Amino acid sequence: MTSLRLANLWLHLFAASIWIGVSAFLTMLWLPQVRKGIDPVSWEELLLRLGRRYIRWAWLAVHILVLTGIFNLLSVGIDTGFAFPPAFLRRLIAKLVIVLLMVALQVGLSVIWLPRLARGPSGGVAEKAIRRALLATSIAGALALWFALMLRS
Ligand code: HEM
Repeated sequence: MTSLRLANLWLHLFAASIWIGVSAFLTMLWLPQVRKGIDPVSWEELLLRLGRRYIRWAWLAVHILVLTGIFNLLSVGIDTGFAFPPAFLRRLIAKLVIVLLMVALQVGLSVIWLPRLARGPSGGVAEKAIRRALLATSIAGALALWFALMLRS
């Protein structure tokens, strides 16, 4: 594998680990613990600040994944004379469908659930939606990782 391709695959995996890892960390560790010791209004303010920061990094990871993914696809295409093995295509399509779902969750966070939280106390409604979106992103990311590792087998 050329060093350029290796560097691209590294950036691809790093971006994926940030997007999936941070979602999983927030869902499994940070949100449940911090929420306990804080009053509801301060909690929603903190969640909003955190959510806005998370979404900025998540969208950066999405852009890097798509650009490095296209480079990956071109590299595999050059290797195979663009006669992609059917199993590779099936698994890549499955992975991309899952990535589309993950992107839809990011859109929901960006244009629905975080703005809802910004409009003031929501009685936990916006918070529940944000936690569910982060949990779903983590689970979908784990599934995308599985299909990704199956690409070569
Ligand atoms: C959450 C999103 C994603 C995750 C977790 C992910 C993960 C991975 C992993 C772990 C590999 C390495 C497989 C290996 O070398 O055995 C890989 C390869 C690949 N990814 Fe992704 N990826 C994601 C998004 C994307 C996107 C959006 C695209 C296309 C636009 C893409 C296209 C590819 C291609 C074509 C390869 C094969 C590279 C090769 O065999 O050299 N991936 N991905």
